[in-house]
Amino acid sequence: MTDWVKSGWRSKPRVQMPDYPDSGKLRAVEDQLAKYPPLVFAGEARRLKTALGEASRGKAFLLQGGDCAESFAEFSADAIRDTFKVMLQMAMVLTYGAKVPVVKIGRMAGQFAKPRSAPTETIGDAELPSYRGDIINGFDFDEASRVPDPQRMLQAYTQAAATLNLLRAFSQGGYADVHQVHAWTLGFIENSEAERYRDVANRISDTLDFIKAAGVSQDAAHTLQTVDFYTSHEALLLEYEEAMCRIDSTTGLPVAGSGHLIWIGDRTRQPDGAHVEFCRGVQNPIGLKCGPTMTVDDLKVLMARLNPDNEPGRLTLITRFGAGKVGDHLPRLIKTVREEGAEVLWTCDPMHGNTIKSSTGFKTRPFDSVLREVREFFAVHNGEGTIPGGVHFEMTGKDVTECTGGVRAVTDEDLSSRYHTACDPRLNASQSLELAFLVSEELSNRRRAQDRAAAV
Ligand code: PEP
Ligand code: CO
Repeated sequence: MTDWVKSGWRSKPRVQMPDYPDSGKLRAVEDQLAKYPPLVFAGEARRLKTALGEASRGKAFLLQGGDCAESFAEFSADAIRDTFKVMLQMAMVLTYGAKVPVVKIGRMAGQFAKPRSAPTETIGDAELPSYRGDIINGFDFDEASRVPDPQRMLQAYTQAAATLNLLRAFSQGGYADVHQVHAWTLGFIENSEAERYRDVANRISDTLDFIKAAGVSQDAAHTLQTVDFYTSHEALLLEYEEAMCRIDSTTGLPVAGSGHLIWIGDRTRQPDGAHVEFCRGVQNPIGLKCGPTMTVDDLKVLMARLNPDNEPGRLTLITRFGAGKVGDHLPRLIKTVREEGAEVLWTCDPMHGNTIKSSTGFKTRPFDSVLREVREFFAVHNGEGTIPGGVHFEMTGKDVTECTGGVRAVTDEDLSSRYHTACDPRLNASQSLELAFLVSEELSNRRRAQDRAAAV
């Protein structure tokens, strides 16, 4: 791309970004970050792009999940391990149902900046700037905390590096070995979902015993001992993204060094805006959130701008309409993609269109609405003959009470007991597994319908 420079976004209209009061301090941090090692390497981003291309053809399935916002205060090895464990369990359930590889991407190691619905927050008589994520300002409701501080970018970088280091160790060091399938359960869940998981795990163990007895090759055994686990975040804070941008020595092309996949949020996807300008120039896979306000004309321009070479795996459309609304919006976007002959991976975020305020005043998501949006996503794709290629959601391995419902029914009254999120409500481990079983069923029904169609 000859018409792109990493600072080009600076001359475009920007939204949802902070105004730093001290430009000298900001500059110093940007200069420092630009000298630091990248967190991910271009070859990894390319490998992920290939895997997402497979998912867009139905040869793999994408599982993307993690915190709404990572926080400095909640940073711990246990939290990372537990989220990773739940993702591994979900991936097992999905692989088992879909019979295709599951591409695993965490909303982790960089998911720190948040778009907000209002620029200020009012509590009682006090009005302060909104909290925008730990990479920008502080959560505490006082004037000093809410001032954007560029130093926070350095702490976010350090936390992301340490998180990624642990994730790489878990993925490659034996923890994710499929023979450990029984060890990924979390002590506190003991219910029907845990039971269903154990059942899948038993069947997997039996299969492993069988292939061992049958004399599997060393290469195949190695494949089962490690996983590829990728990172992703919303590329919202462009000063950070620009400072982390590097030139890939293999291809000579720019790459976002901040994470494997970066996405553009539903509030920052203006075709002529700063966020699209930055993302179009890096070679990483790019996600694009598509909510009810996505117009057909905007989608056309965005696809052309973000994937001019129509490369498979480059562009993932993450649809998030809300339960009951998928049928109103997804078909028109599918039609546009078809008319343009565009290569995209379709995935479903059943979280962001389903946020409500509970009767007890907490921001929550009814788990039934989450499941319903997933079902609608599959139904529309099945009807249109297009490929539902993945799911994207907010979850944690911790035993929180942030979304209502699920087999261990969390009620409005329960929300206050373990409500820890710094931003949006997340599924807990049990709800995440329940969701994985639903998706797995949808995938195996699709597979059976396709087998039947192929047989006649
Ligand atoms: C998010 O994924 O946390 C988010 C803010 O999503 P959206 O841009 O779809 O609202
Ligand atoms: Co969110």
